[in-house]
Amino acid sequence: MLTVTVTDLPEPPKVPLLGHLPALGRGMAMHRVLHDWRDVYGPTYRIRFGRTPLVVTSSPEVVQTVLRERPEAFRRAPMLARLIDEMGAPGLFDAEGEDWRRMRRIAMRGLNAGALRNSFFVITRSIERLRELWATTGGERVDVLDDLMRYTLEVSTALLAGHDLDAVRQRDGDGLPRRLPQVFEKLGRRIASPVPYWRWVRLPADRRLDATVAELRDLVKEQYVHARRRVAEGQAPVTYLEALAEASMDDAAKLSEQDVVSAVVNMIVAGEDNTAAAAAWAMHYLAIHPEAQRKVREEAEEVLGDDEFPSDPAALSRLRYAEAVVNESIRLRPTSPFLIMQAARDITIPDGANALRLEAGTLVMPLMTHASDVDDHRYPDPGAFEPDRWLSPSAPQPNDASPFLPFGGGPRFCPGRNLALVEVTMVVAMVCRHFVLEADTTTGPVGERVTFAMMPTNLGIRLHPAEHRSLDRRNAGADA
Ligand code: HEM
Repeated sequence: MLTVTVTDLPEPPKVPLLGHLPALGRGMAMHRVLHDWRDVYGPTYRIRFGRTPLVVTSSPEVVQTVLRERPEAFRRAPMLARLIDEMGAPGLFDAEGEDWRRMRRIAMRGLNAGALRNSFFVITRSIERLRELWATTGGERVDVLDDLMRYTLEVSTALLAGHDLDAVRQRDGDGLPRRLPQVFEKLGRRIASPVPYWRWVRLPADRRLDATVAELRDLVKEQYVHARRRVAEGQAPVTYLEALAEASMDDAAKLSEQDVVSAVVNMIVAGEDNTAAAAAWAMHYLAIHPEAQRKVREEAEEVLGDDEFPSDPAALSRLRYAEAVVNESIRLRPTSPFLIMQAARDITIPDGANALRLEAGTLVMPLMTHASDVDDHRYPDPGAFEPDRWLSPSAPQPNDASPFLPFGGGPRFCPGRNLALVEVTMVVAMVCRHFVLEADTTTGPVGERVTFAMMPTNLGIRLHPAEHRSLDRRNAGADA
């Protein structure tokens, strides 16, 4: 077996001092460049961010090992933890070692026990607000991503912190619902910034960021008082915050108020951007595939009958085509196409006939979703939008030899996956049931941009009222 070290790996051409940053920063579609280089330099190659070397890999064995061997052998890149910490939102996403183990246990208990129990009520309330908002747009171009950011923020804040931000309806103004999505944008920009200027100079945008996060922390702190009281009265936790409040009463958990507030803010930050982006991409594909809209609409008519929305998990699970649309748009536009990890100790990873030797401190970027571009056995005609591929008896199955991991893998697998899929499937079902989507390309084609998540840019959709048989029948009955 040949052992390969980082310096043995192929490297795309770079520029002095900045390394590969200029090529990667171009158009903010960094994942595309990384995938193109993979086609030229093979599954594992090296690049430089300024002076920092990184190993980029889509080798199945290396990706699986990096994800699996956490937290002992690999950790998230420390610069990410530092950025999240500087923002005032440290928590599960960036915790390491024993700290992470403890938080993960509490978080999983909290998400299972509390947050999801009333998720249908919370999501339905926000979906209804979104429907009402879009019903007023009169076929005008809608910046759906902007609206969806407030939708996912509203759902997260209600489910996790027990507070109704009423964000969906706040398209204008300068309230928290308008400013919070900019926090995620700003975090993405700091990740991509070659110079951490904010550590020396706080520009007005940085001060605004500090104030926004402080405001969110205050809001969570206030909710925490109520959460502790409810739990002390013996009520079962229904939000993530209440589950944490319950855990904090157990001395062994060693959770301070500060820890709890940070954990909730961290969870809100970790989920909001990705989920909004996934819902926006699903709407993009629906807008350019009228046939798929029609199928979602017909399925919703059949499954829901007179109900506006699925009211429980059983009804939701019967919206199989809507779910297939979500799977297919995540496949084509995965919102977390790569992660940035660091070897926590020296390690040698088997990689086919070779082995890859990584020294402690080496940064590794697993390309998590490359399989969906190249695995044309599992995804025939991989570039085509075909939701039906998820419904056929030979639907794509997980495959360790060509992993497709839009929600990560191993012990740090995304704990919000189920919630995110419910949120996005509800948007897909609602929007097709009530509207006909028309892509508006008057300002040019839809593009991609990686900030914290991989977002659509220039996505404009016109929403025209759809006719739906059962709801029209019901409304006619109410008028009579
Ligand atoms: C479509 C939506 C989403 C996508 C694509 C997504 C994707 C991911 C990915 C790729 C990771 C890294 C996993 C790894 O390191 O192996 C992750 C981690 C995480 N996600 Fe999500 N996520 C989504 C929604 C959510 C939601 C709604 C929440 C919260 C309610 C959430 C909370 C988290 C947290 C806390 C982590 C860190 C887990 C840990 O390190 O133990 N995510 N997510």
